[in-house]
Amino acid sequence: MRPLLSIRSLGVHYVSYGSEVHALGDVDLDLQAGERLAIIGESGSGKSTLARAIAGLLPPSVRLDGSVDWPGLGHQAQNGRDIGFVFQDPASSLDPVMSVGDQVAEVAHANLDMEWPAARKLAIELLDRVRLPEPSALATSYPHQLSGGQKQRVAIAAAIAGRPKLLIADEATSALDTIVQAEIVALIRQLVADDGMALLFVSHDIALAVNLADRIAVFRHGRLVEVAATDELISAPQSTYAKALLAAHLGLDTRLEAEP
Ligand SMILES: Nc1ncnc2c1ncn2[C@@H]1O[C@H](COP(=O)(O)OP(=O)(O)OP(=O)(O)O)[C@@H](O)[C@H]1O
Ligand SMILES: [Mg+2]
Repeated sequence: MRPLLSIRSLGVHYVSYGSEVHALGDVDLDLQAGERLAIIGESGSGKSTLARAIAGLLPPSVRLDGSVDWPGLGHQAQNGRDIGFVFQDPASSLDPVMSVGDQVAEVAHANLDMEWPAARKLAIELLDRVRLPEPSALATSYPHQLSGGQKQRVAIAAAIAGRPKLLIADEATSALDTIVQAEIVALIRQLVADDGMALLFVSHDIALAVNLADRIAVFRHGRLVEVAATDELISAPQSTYAKALLAAHLGLDTRLEAEP
């Protein structure tokens, strides 16, 4: 089967003041349609850089090597239309002076060639789908009138308004408290299942990644250290780094393996 997304020998180098930061190197990774892939690794390992490279959201000054192709789409993916991107901080991804209903409607209007009244109607349906209460009334509110969890639900509604084939969530639940976090994870799981979207879930919360993903890719210092089905990675991590990372975060006792 042709993968939705195919990444080959990807390198990303940030250029600033004449020096380069090698944020990613030599990454090969495929994503199948409808697959849920988690990207884990410590801070600075290149997770967000990968997510942004896939969505075409890197600053123009970066130097790229390798390729990001979309065999499953047949064209280069466009953020909004083919990819929905949910950021860590909904306050900065939402426009403070536009009603939340209009913000969701705008994505549908721009990406689905939908007339404004139909886009508005769809926005209210989407606010309902992300389980916001009284969506018709809520559509007229502004971001500052909503809680953090509600804002993130709006951001998710906007991300799926263009009916993308891939949803990317970059630490989308990290700024929320534990209960809201669990609700948003459940929502993301439901939405990708209902719409058959693929999911790229970037998180340094490994327990969440394990809970949500079919497959997990482990990054360290900009390199893909290991990628495996979630069950396989947990039961038999191959690399020393993945073993240590899982042991530290999931409380697995790796010392047992060392015993005769
Ligand atoms: N705009 C930028 N300009 C220069 N260097 C950058 C830029 N963005 C990221 N980097 C560098 O690239 C490397 C990878 O950063 P990235 O943000 O992808 O890591 P991350 O895994 O998402 O980390 P975190 O878990 O903290 O979000 C880091 O060394 C970082 O300092
Ligand atoms: Mg990041």
